[in-house]
Amino acid sequence: MTLSDIDSRQTLAGWVDSRRDHGGVIFVDLRDRSGIIQVVFSPELSPEAYGTAEQLRSEWVIEVKGQVRRRPPESENPGLPTGFVEVFADEVKVLNSSLTPPFYIEDDVRADEALRLRYRYLDLRRPQMQRNLILRHQVVKYIRDFLDARGFLEIETPILIKSTPEGARDYLVPSRMQKGSFYALPQSPQQLKQLLMVSGVERYFQIARCFRDEDLRADRQPEFTQLDLEMSFVEQEDVLQLTEELYTGMVEKLAPDKKLIQPFPRLPYDEVIAKYGSDKPDLRFGLEMTEVTDLAGETEFRVFLSTIENGGIVKGFVAPGQGHYTGSDMRRLEETAKEFGAAGMSHVRIQGEGQPQGLEEDNFLLSPGLRMPVEWSRRLAEKMGASGGDLIVLMAGPPNRVNLWLSAMREYFGDRLGLADENTLSFAFVTGFPLFEWDENNKRWDSSHHPFTSPADGKEVLLDGENLAGIESKAYDLVCNGSELASGSIRIHRRELQEKIFGVLGYSKEQVEERFGHILEAFEYGAPPHGGIAPGIDRLVTILAGADSIRDVIAFPKTQSGTDLLFGSPSPVDAAQLRDLSLRVTE
Ligand code: AMO
Repeated sequence: MTLSDIDSRQTLAGWVDSRRDHGGVIFVDLRDRSGIIQVVFSPELSPEAYGTAEQLRSEWVIEVKGQVRRRPPESENPGLPTGFVEVFADEVKVLNSSLTPPFYIEDDVRADEALRLRYRYLDLRRPQMQRNLILRHQVVKYIRDFLDARGFLEIETPILIKSTPEGARDYLVPSRMQKGSFYALPQSPQQLKQLLMVSGVERYFQIARCFRDEDLRADRQPEFTQLDLEMSFVEQEDVLQLTEELYTGMVEKLAPDKKLIQPFPRLPYDEVIAKYGSDKPDLRFGLEMTEVTDLAGETEFRVFLSTIENGGIVKGFVAPGQGHYTGSDMRRLEETAKEFGAAGMSHVRIQGEGQPQGLEEDNFLLSPGLRMPVEWSRRLAEKMGASGGDLIVLMAGPPNRVNLWLSAMREYFGDRLGLADENTLSFAFVTGFPLFEWDENNKRWDSSHHPFTSPADGKEVLLDGENLAGIESKAYDLVCNGSELASGSIRIHRRELQEKIFGVLGYSKEQVEERFGHILEAFEYGAPPHGGIAPGIDRLVTILAGADSIRDVIAFPKTQSGTDLLFGSPSPVDAAQLRDLSLRVTE
């Protein structure tokens, strides 16, 4: 209702958001999905409606009829879309009453998340949650329209299927009809979309639910949604361009306040790891890293020397303008680093903020252990691009560990120094991932992405060699503000190569036949070259909504421990159900 509805008679239905009794008149804020409107009950207009209004409580469901009027100037509320009008009710019907909700239905809700999840249907009544649901709908609608206009077909694939590995554990479903046999829920429709390419579909997509039994984090759910897509006869750049167009159009339409940096940079994996220590860096700020193993080797610092002896590296970054930290600031910072898992942290504080001659003077404060002449510190500062007033953070250890720790510290400083602009979406494609990575725990090679990813052109021959870690793949990720939003690759489409990859991953011939025989066989019937990508929809909507957690953009999410607090699942099942399935639960 707006000013153009003045004097019209309307019927409105919704929930009582609040009721204020002003001695003689009662004001009810009536809420529905579209917002809030003020309803006025006065005994002069209708004693009966007024009498009912006296009984109303929060979250009761009512229907009112009445005339829309302009609010008196002193009670106008320009902050509300309906702030210039109110409805004078002459009839009201109580459609349902409500218990007192366990928390207020309002945006800055203070209830803890477990309570919100237990009463999710009330939590979802909050305007912010309604906006999130609406945004999610708009995102999916945008995707469907965008891909439809480009000749993609939306095709559903089965949920009861066989293991499609993406690096997590499978959720299993026992078969009643074939006792002792199980379906696996798909970790993604990866093999199915590849089979659709063999089927001649050429351009497929699906808003696909994926299931992964893995350790959960803030941006992970055991079941989540992907825009899964696949195309035949394409090369990497075709997929990246389509993806970039999709994201830019969507952000411009659905989150117009967000700033985009275009075109999305394509960053080689090696470069990203060297500069940011992570394959999903937050690119809204610099704080780039520099490896200084050579300079570290000149010191007599035991930690550096033994690290280097054991094949490790020394690397760090410059926190601009933070050279003023005191000794106790530094100890606290080192504690923070240890919370991120770091073994330790060394530093050089450069005094003389703003002095261009900062490096000329004897004003370097080195961490204990690092007793080096000023000339060394000066070379270190020059190599790392530090000057007067800066702080140099250094870490030593095995390359992958150092990168992990430093990248956590880099994000910590990005946050602390306010470098990450909330309204900027800094997208980039990371390309050229390694095909394999060494799994130290299980002492075997694992796929960096998944086993269906093609090696880069000309790298196939390396599969027979020793240096498997050095084989580049045709896998790519889309990252944004420190989060991995999408992942994909150009695939293998020939049997021999796919078999060889399974061999490297340690599958026996029998295992390959049993688990992947269907797709290997399909490759022998004229499989076209193909590739695709899978953007995570939950993470995308989280970023577009500016939400704190992926759970805020999923209607019925699970907790970090995989529990649905509303339904109370997972839960034990009846003995009869177990019997039907020939299952027995043991401790
Ligand atoms: P991947 O496993 O990288 O690739 O998943 C693609 C994208 O899905 C999202 N995602 C998740 N979101 C929420 N909770 C989770 N547990 C979760 N796991 C993944 C991320 C991720 O970038 N089949 C391949 C894609 C392909 O090669 O085409 C795949 O599933 O945003």
